[in-house]
Formats: sequence, C-alpha cells, structure tokens
Amino acid sequence: MNVSEIEPQAVDTAITRSAIFLVATLTPGNEHRDTVRALCGDLAGLVRSVGKRVPSGNLSCVLGFGATAWGVLFGAPCPASLHPFREIGTGERVAVATPGDILLHIRAEQMDLCFELAAQVMKRLGAAVTVVDEVQGFRYFDMRSIIGFVDGTENPSGREVAKFTLVGNEDPPFVGGSYVLVQKYLHDMTGWNALSTADQENIIGRTKLSDIELDASVKPSCSHSALTTLDKDGQEVKILRDNMPFGRPGAGEFGTYFIGYARSPAPIEEMLENMFIGKPPGNYDRLLDYSRAVTGGLFFVPSATFLDGLG
Ligand code: HEM
Repeated sequence: MNVSEIEPQAVDTAITRSAIFLVATLTPGNEHRDTVRALCGDLAGLVRSVGKRVPSGNLSCVLGFGATAWGVLFGAPCPASLHPFREIGTGERVAVATPGDILLHIRAEQMDLCFELAAQVMKRLGAAVTVVDEVQGFRYFDMRSIIGFVDGTENPSGREVAKFTLVGNEDPPFVGGSYVLVQKYLHDMTGWNALSTADQENIIGRTKLSDIELDASVKPSCSHSALTTLDKDGQEVKILRDNMPFGRPGAGEFGTYFIGYARSPAPIEEMLENMFIGKPPGNYDRLLDYSRAVTGGLFFVPSATFLDGLG
C-alpha cells in the first residue's frame, strides 16, 4: 500500500476535557484472540456510532498493544522497537513496569461519551481481557496538572506532531504507527503544597501562574523541564503528551496519568532515565520526591488502516 494512503489512529487529536485510560491483560486462547482482533476491525465503527450522538464532543479512541500481546494477536512481524517496558531507577525512585497487554486511550469533551464508548468496547471484549487499571481523567482549569502548573505547553504542534509521533520508513510494515508509554503517578500533595511557589517553580523549571520557562541562567539542571528536554545533534526531540489529572479527594488520592506518544520508545525512555536516575546520575527530578509511579507500560499503536484491515 502507498504510504500516503495509510491513516494513523487519532494520536494527534485536539485537547479534550475528559479521558479514560484502560489497561487490560489478554486471556489466553484462540477464541479470545479472535474476539480482540474482531474488535480491532470494528473499533472505528463503534467510535462513529457513539461519537455521532454528540458531534461537538470530539470523541476519539487510540488502541495500543504490548510486546507479548502483539505476537499472540498478530504474529510476525513485530514493530521494530516494541519491547516490554523495562523498569528504570532503583530504591525510592523507580519507574515500575506493571502488567498490561492492551491500552485504550479514550478522549472526548465530555465524560459521558468516554464512558459510553468504554462500556461498548468492554461489552465486545468480555472475557477476552481482564482490566488491570482504569482511570478517569479530567481537565483541571486552564490546562493545569494536579500540582498546579500548566501541563502540555511544550508539546509539538503543526507538522512537528507527525514527525515526532509517527513511524516512518525506518520500519516499513508499521508506517503510521506510534509508540505510547503510560504511567500512573500519585502525588504527596501535603508535601508539595508545603513548598514555596519559588521552590516549586525551580522543580518544574517554569513559573506557576504565568507558565513562562525560567531563564537558562537560573533554571536548575535538575528541573523537570531541563531533564525532559532532549537534544540530538543540535535538534530538539519532542514527544506528544496528553497527561490528565485524576483522583479521589475523599480518599486523599491526587494523581497524574502520564501518557507520551513518540515515533520510537527511545526518547521517552531517555527522559525517564534523566528523571529517575538523573543527568548526571544523582541529579534527578525533584518532582519525584512528591510523585510515585505506581504503573508503567509500553504499547504500540498500529495505524487505523492496520486495524481496519482486521475487520
Ligand atoms: C509526575 C508526573 C508529571 C507531571 C505532573 C508533569 C508535569 C509537567 C509540567 C507542568 C510541565 C511544564 C509544561 C509543559 O511543557 O508541558 C512538563 C513538561 C514536560 N514533561 Fe512532564 N510531567 C510529569 C511526568 C513526565 C514524564 C514521565 C515525562 C517523560 C517521560 C515528561 C515529559 C515532559 C516533557 C518532554 C516536557 C516538556 C519539556 C520542555 O520542552 O520544556 N513528564 N511536565
């Protein structure tokens, strides 16, 4: 097929107010494999059916697969850089790897659309999967993360998005696909809120109210912004993030669901190494003194054309 005819999944979608993140494991057995493959082929139709009821709701769904599940569901070839998520860090700071074969990233302007699509998809999947993590995320005021800073400012835009997120000719069978890494973080908000605004700004590397990047002369090399800015041969390498706050205030739970899309897992893993181990080692991200990763997984998002072909 001509590369220009390949349609990616809805990786690059307008920012929405709501999202559901679902991670599930696959039940062994051919009938379960066939159920998941059938859903892949019907997913676009399901999104159309649910989404049509509220055209302004901007409903979308991205479906990703872990390394082990890929072989079971689709056989060879496997996306060139897909591998099980490797834990990064030691001791108190670990980017943990947790079970997960299938990721659903459902986004819409309103939660009822996300909820209805998730319900329809789960009805189809039935016993073929076991959900191991399910998070409902919400947009928090003016794009704030739960820790009070604007999140997503330095995302790529325009043509950069496809350049940084879509597989190209480096892996011909998987052109138009993406890699996606997810992590669920829980925050110590009491500790975070006890810091002065200036201390918080030094940790993030940006001002809190106005979201302006700190000047290079004062921005600490251990700031989140410094450690996640990657430079390859004089060119910045970006990833596309659509993190969402979540939580249960009554239970004291305050979280960030991190989701990063990229053309290869390498830049996201390098950012995690910089954050958890430090650059140089020891110069780690102080945001992690107040944030703990409780899940972690790497998935491949094949093109929509690939999914449709399974129908
Ligand atoms: C604890 C969870 C996290 C929170 C609350 C958080 C929050 C933030 C905030 C507030 C910013 C500044 C505004 C922006 O450009 O978006 C930012 C920037 C960024 N974050 Fe995170 N982040 C988290 C985890 C991560 C992880 C795990 C990665 C990558 C593996 C990451 C990668 C980035 C990148 C690439 C930038 C832009 C840096 C720049 O170009 O200046 N973040 N994050």
